[in-house]
Amino acid sequence: MKMTALLSVSGLHLYYRTSRGPVRAVDGVSLELKEGETLAVVGESGSGKSSMAYAIIRVLPRNVQRYCGSVVFDDAGDIVSMDEESVRRKVRWKGISMVFQGAMNSLNPVVKVGEQIMEPLIIHLGYTKEGARGEAARAMVDVGLPDYVMDRYPHELSGGMKQRAVISMALVMKPKLVILDEPTSALDVMTQANIMNLLKRLKRQYGLSYIFITHDLALASELADIVAIMYAGKIVELGSAEDVYLRPAHPYTQKLLRSVPLLREDREPEFIPGAPPDLVDPPPGCRFHPRCPYAKEICRREEPELKDMGGEHMVACHFTGELRGGADGLG
Ligand SMILES: Nc1ncnc2c1ncn2[C@@H]1O[C@H](COP(=O)(O)OP(=O)(O)OP(=O)(O)O)[C@@H](O)[C@H]1O
Ligand SMILES: [Mg+2]
Repeated sequence: MKMTALLSVSGLHLYYRTSRGPVRAVDGVSLELKEGETLAVVGESGSGKSSMAYAIIRVLPRNVQRYCGSVVFDDAGDIVSMDEESVRRKVRWKGISMVFQGAMNSLNPVVKVGEQIMEPLIIHLGYTKEGARGEAARAMVDVGLPDYVMDRYPHELSGGMKQRAVISMALVMKPKLVILDEPTSALDVMTQANIMNLLKRLKRQYGLSYIFITHDLALASELADIVAIMYAGKIVELGSAEDVYLRPAHPYTQKLLRSVPLLREDREPEFIPGAPPDLVDPPPGCRFHPRCPYAKEICRREEPELKDMGGEHMVACHFTGELRGGADGLG
């Protein structure tokens, strides 16, 4: 495993324009990912996980109000300040690819699956139809799809097969980094396990890096080297999987971990009271303070910085040191 950063994100912002004012979906995110590593991004619905992914690969909707910061990828330079043509030529799909949330349900219903896998090769790499067919066939074998799928339409495939097809689309251009946005959330538990195994094998086989987006901490633990916990457009805790799972230091992470149902324990999963904030008008100070059992005056007033607690375990909480391990008795 190479130890230089493959991806360096710094001060990344993505706001959307709406009639109610800007939605601060990604509000100052910084992180680093090394080659071959998997970063899991975990957070409740609406915390900005997909938006962060769009900002990294620079697939932006029309109503962008603010897009700034930097996303330095490999030796391509900064994606945020690059012109669109260079992003297309150097980065998107070839360097960083993405399996979009719900992609398996937005396959083109009137185009054969094989042709949809071939398309990027023809469009972006100038392959001939025959050349692309050969390459697509190989990509399909890689994800465990039988050849006959090449000439089938999406509705003829099972959910698991459709998901394998969209994964092969993300891999066909041989990227170094693949962003997977909730890649198993529409699947039954068995199929989900099969897809997780596929992702693990592909990662080993090609030395891939992943950004694995999920609201499911248990699922994230299967793949993650590093975990970023997102809350209301910000990363509130970032560290090795071991640190985040075994020594969660942010009250939100602690709550999230306690909300995971455990098969072999008789404790009831807890749920987090309240709801995530409106990102047009998030609470002042720490955005989690209205839901935090430890909130004090300073939390309502001052926004906590993401601070290193040691060993690159970063936490944004005014009371980090004190809450570590939790007076609350975690585990
Ligand atoms: N194009 C857009 N215009 C306005 N607001 C948007 C747009 N896209 C997303 N949002 C808002 O931005 C916030 C973050 O959304 P995002 O989809 O990134 O969250 P998420 O963490 O991926 O959620 P989920 O787990 O439900 O997929 C939400 O409040 C969402 O409503
Ligand atoms: Mg999402």
